[in-house]
Amino acid sequence: MPPPLIIAIDGPSGAGKSTLGRMLARSLGLLYIDTGSMYRAVALAVIESSTNETDDVAVSVLAEKVDIGLAGDPDSLRVTLDGRDVSDRVRDDDVTNMSSIISTIPAVRRAMVQRQRELGKRGAVMNGRDIGTVVFPDADVKFFLTAVPEERAERRLAEEREHNPAATYDQTLVDITERDRRDTTRADSPLAAAADAIMIDSTGQAIAEVFQRMMSEVEKRS
Ligand code: DC
Repeated sequence: MPPPLIIAIDGPSGAGKSTLGRMLARSLGLLYIDTGSMYRAVALAVIESSTNETDDVAVSVLAEKVDIGLAGDPDSLRVTLDGRDVSDRVRDDDVTNMSSIISTIPAVRRAMVQRQRELGKRGAVMNGRDIGTVVFPDADVKFFLTAVPEERAERRLAEEREHNPAATYDQTLVDITERDRRDTTRADSPLAAAADAIMIDSTGQAIAEVFQRMMSEVEKRS
């Protein structure tokens, strides 16, 4: 048996990581692991238990304790929190904002990284912010996906409108800019491209084109 293939996809929100990650996982027959969902599940646990998000110790205890499940095929990945399906709930604005806050806490990150290494050990397409730099620094292929903030906001808005018809472009752009700031400036594992990552700017490109480029990079390296 060849060693399991690990493909890391990092980048800011709305760069196309989940769509492309799913497509790659499906084509390569690999597990798809969206690590953002794991931080979102912890954020939801923080909200539901009325834990103060500035209490690093309490949030970390929660992050270690909760049971987070990712199940299903790449196209219908479900997220569970202590056995309850929270896939839709974790996409709500309050959870999105909270996930960006609690993901700055080092002990929360350590707990998630440990789970992610375990989940990915049999091979995976894993997306997030620190996969190629921290979680799997020896990943077989590392991608860093970007796009200009305006285009990322357009994409996020289309997703958001599915469950929040009142979402606006201006607010989405403000939110994305604030999350970029938090993700790139946090002290522990800030969003950054690994030195050996393949940089892809998807601005103005069709998903199918980007997918072809990524597949050809995977074929070259695996
Ligand atoms: O990818 P996403 O938007 O679902 O991620 C939600 C939040 O979790 C985001 O603000 C950054 C954080 N995150 C992280 O810090 N590290 C990861 N590997 C994945 C997500």
